[in-house]
Amino acid sequence: MTHTFAAPGRVNLMGEHTDYAGGLVLPAAVDRCVRVSGRPGGERVRLTSDGWPGVVDVAADGRDRNGGTGWGRYVAAVVAELADLGRPPVGFEGWVASDLPAGAGLGSSAALEVAVAVALCHAGDFNPDPLELAQAAQRAEHSAMGVPCGIMDQAISLLARADHALLLNCRTLERDYVPLPGDLAMVVFDSGVERSLEDTRYARRRSELEAGMDARVRHFTSENQRVQETVAILTATTIDTNALGPLFAASHASLRDDFEVSTDELDLLVELARQAGAVAARMTGAGFGGSIVALTDAAHANVIAAEVVGAYRTAGHEGRALVCRSADGARFRS
Ligand code: GLA
Repeated sequence: MTHTFAAPGRVNLMGEHTDYAGGLVLPAAVDRCVRVSGRPGGERVRLTSDGWPGVVDVAADGRDRNGGTGWGRYVAAVVAELADLGRPPVGFEGWVASDLPAGAGLGSSAALEVAVAVALCHAGDFNPDPLELAQAAQRAEHSAMGVPCGIMDQAISLLARADHALLLNCRTLERDYVPLPGDLAMVVFDSGVERSLEDTRYARRRSELEAGMDARVRHFTSENQRVQETVAILTATTIDTNALGPLFAASHASLRDDFEVSTDELDLLVELARQAGAVAARMTGAGFGGSIVALTDAAHANVIAAEVVGAYRTAGHEGRALVCRSADGARFRS
């Protein structure tokens, strides 16, 4: 019997480059997923994909930890991390499909790790706590790609609730769900500049923050404050969505000037979104390319999306807009 497991990508609404230093984050999952379909059984994990080349074929007991190439490295690392957690070595044969753009800063590698992890847990009738599973997927990212990422992307892909953002304290792992106003849409604008977390600049920023470099720490401190202010706005009895604009603008400026992870294209998109009437806009994810997230009136989301993509093209760049709905975390589909 074939089963499907889906794990969503995310936008982060506030709290960028804070997770790996124990800060606050406020991501929401989007209605774009990586899906793993297939059948449990045997002693191998064998996967193909309609989007990525090659066949992944590794032992289900985790002994091929560093096996696989390309996207197969993620799969091999997840299999091995789950074996370390005690997952029974039941294999899986199937395929991977995705409608989540890769390299757009929407947490696609975490979504792949989580989709594979959920499929394998189901195959082995193994039920770890979701945060334990998120940490295993995070370790897989570290070992597969050598990227010292934080917990945010894997955690939101597993823990998300539709119509909510997740407030996660990355030091204590305490969490809370913050309702998102129904009249606001989340519009992602992909700058078309692909980013890879393997980019050494991500690891460099992390070490600079840990070493206490002035501007990096200033960003960390002010960004944590902005997460708290964003949550206060979203949980107030009367929600003043216009108050989100200055907060998002301040976050973007801090990422651009103090943390130095923005690009000219992301800066331009934020400005174009503001001009087109978005309530709030900032880069989202690691930066160095990737996407911005804009909050807009739900009724005007498509018009604003088209206007920004058009103006971006006039400025000489090919981007794209994804009008997203917030979604639930990873799940067993059928
Ligand atoms: C990437 C990482 C996350 C986080 C963000 C920046 O998405 O995977 O852990 O550090 O960058 O906020």
